[in-house]
Amino acid sequence: MPTSESDKRHFYTQVSHDSVDTRHHGAISMPVYQSSLFAFETHEKFDEAMKDVLAASVYSRGNNPTVMYLEDKIAQLEGGEAARCFASGMGAIAAVLFALTGTGDHIVCVDQAYGPTRELLVDLSNRFGLEVTFIDGTDTDAFAAAIRPNTKLFYLESPTSGMFEMQDLPAVTKLAKTHGILTAIDNSWATPYFQKPIALGCDLVMHSLTKYFSGHSDTVGGVVVGSRELLGLIGSRSYLNLGAAMAPQTASLITRGLRTLPLRLERHQASALKIAQHLASKPDVVRVNHPGLEQYPQKELADSQLTGYGGLFSFVTRHSVEKMKEWATGLQYFRIGVSWGGYESLVTAGAAPAKFNADGSAPSSVRLYIGIEDPEELIADIDRSWARLKEPSQEAISS
Ligand SMILES: Cc1ncc(COP(=O)(O)O)c(C=O)c1O
Repeated sequence: MPTSESDKRHFYTQVSHDSVDTRHHGAISMPVYQSSLFAFETHEKFDEAMKDVLAASVYSRGNNPTVMYLEDKIAQLEGGEAARCFASGMGAIAAVLFALTGTGDHIVCVDQAYGPTRELLVDLSNRFGLEVTFIDGTDTDAFAAAIRPNTKLFYLESPTSGMFEMQDLPAVTKLAKTHGILTAIDNSWATPYFQKPIALGCDLVMHSLTKYFSGHSDTVGGVVVGSRELLGLIGSRSYLNLGAAMAPQTASLITRGLRTLPLRLERHQASALKIAQHLASKPDVVRVNHPGLEQYPQKELADSQLTGYGGLFSFVTRHSVEKMKEWATGLQYFRIGVSWGGYESLVTAGAAPAKFNADGSAPSSVRLYIGIEDPEELIADIDRSWARLKEPSQEAISS
């Protein structure tokens, strides 16, 4: 069930409103507790706190009040019982894998998941005896076919952040539950404003907070949200001892970004949709991977799971990779760079994945992130550089 319109309206209240907290002298903005440790008046109180270092503020690799504030806020937005923040999105993803799976366990992962996630899974399987199967996440039957007696986790990312493929979350999570398999999803692309995976059946939700939550391309962070029980396991098995905790300054910056999350997402969504439609009308663009477009192959699923789309999408062209890199370099307002979720538009070009270029007629893929610049100026920029591209048939002749 998609997030209702009233849920979306309430989201604005959730990011803005806090109940009165008298512990911080009435500070309206959560202070930065720039402290590595917390001291106690008596040894008795210290001993009491040491009984559960994951509940009390004892040491900032465990609990820091500035970080805990952000954790509570994100748990609320995702509709989860608890959350843990990490030094990066990959820190959060690694913590889930290390806490919930081990040697001899099997993980089923979508084949278009974020590259470093796939690399980590391959590495864990090569060096620590974890079994991993990558499947086409658009095909729910492929999940069913991949299940083994030792399958512990379905690793999901919907939509994926390169080619924007979706998984049918209610169907896949139902299948997982009937086999006692946990589901963890990377929800960085949609954010809880546009997709609520826990309500759709997922056990754990991860984010790269580096992206929309932070919103200003000035910090790196991650989070895992889920039940108290699972977060307890992650806390004791991987959060505390792997040591990838979020720093309090980072939590403060991400909290500041979170206050305007829905406002920014509406802007990214409106501009990106306009630009995606514009690109879809170009004859040398083979397909635009944007779940909001009518021609998106999983449109019905997108409408049933998402209430919006944000600013990141990709397209596949008939031009060579080299030519699309020249096109990208010729853009004025798009910076060439990884990541997304900030104020600034970004572009990267590369080879289209084999499954999108089966007959060799669609060699290049471009990922665009649409920032908060004027979309008309971005379109003019795209067209100016596009005008310098030759016909794909002429490229081969001149190169
Ligand atoms: C979809 C997705 N998930 C996870 C990550 C990892 O996050 P981080 O860079 O904060 O470690 C990224 C980073 O680009 C991403 O795009």
